[in-house]
Amino acid sequence: MGDDRSGALGDRAGESMGGSLGEGVHLRTMTPADVPAVMQLERTLFPQDAWPEEFFRQELAQAEPQASAERATRRYWVAESRNPGADDVLGYAGMMCVLPLADVQTLAVAPAAQGRGLGTDLLRLIIKESQARGAEDLLLEVRADNPGAQRLYRREGFEQIHLRRRYYPDGGDALIMRRRLRPEHPRRPSSAADLRSDLTDRGDAHE
Ligand SMILES: CC(C)(COP(=O)(O)OP(=O)(O)OC[C@H]1O[C@@H](n2cnc3c(N)ncnc32)[C@H](O)[C@@H]1OP(=O)(O)O)[C@@H](O)C(=O)NCCC(=O)NCCS
Repeated sequence: MGDDRSGALGDRAGESMGGSLGEGVHLRTMTPADVPAVMQLERTLFPQDAWPEEFFRQELAQAEPQASAERATRRYWVAESRNPGADDVLGYAGMMCVLPLADVQTLAVAPAAQGRGLGTDLLRLIIKESQARGAEDLLLEVRADNPGAQRLYRREGFEQIHLRRRYYPDGGDALIMRRRLRPEHPRRPSSAADLRSDLTDRGDAHE
């Protein structure tokens, strides 16, 4: 089991998830050794557009510890069962952060573990990590024909901002969804021209 003490959310690593699955689920950083088990789930959960194994490996190469902290634009986790005899990997999630944006790269929960809050826990982990890294917005793509996942995302504060037609290899459309991570602060004027335009926007400019 990996020791996961690095990164902005390192304090959660190696601990049970505080969410609905409680003590039964252990969360840790995904390593290349997890990829075969992750691929089994990936093929089951994304039958039309499973990522190739190589894609996971490339993603992990851009995450700690393979990449240095400064270069680690990715972070991936696996959730695994503490129960002996249960399937090892119950779910996984990955994110990318290149400021000012973060992206949900993937989110998946094994069929037997779905509907008990693990997907919510993993998504909230990505949200927290994105906030901790200073991202302003968190973006994701979700299949238009996946209303279950869309419901989860809307409940967690995402809104649709675009529709990308024929985004997926089988011709399926994608919704682009966004969650704002910070309250919008009024822009601080950096020049006299900015100040004038701010005043004009507010309708109280003086000629
Ligand atoms: C989407 C997914 C990650 C959700 O994981 P989960 O552990 O079942 O999620 P939760 O138990 O936290 O449920 C969260 C919400 O998701 C919604 N939901 C998720 N899957 C659903 C489904 N198949 N049917 C209906 N609602 C669903 C529910 O509205 C639920 O909200 P509720 O608790 O208010 O009822 C999981 O269903 C999954 O892996 N699906 C296949 C892969 C996938 O679609 N990933 C998302 C790619 S963008």
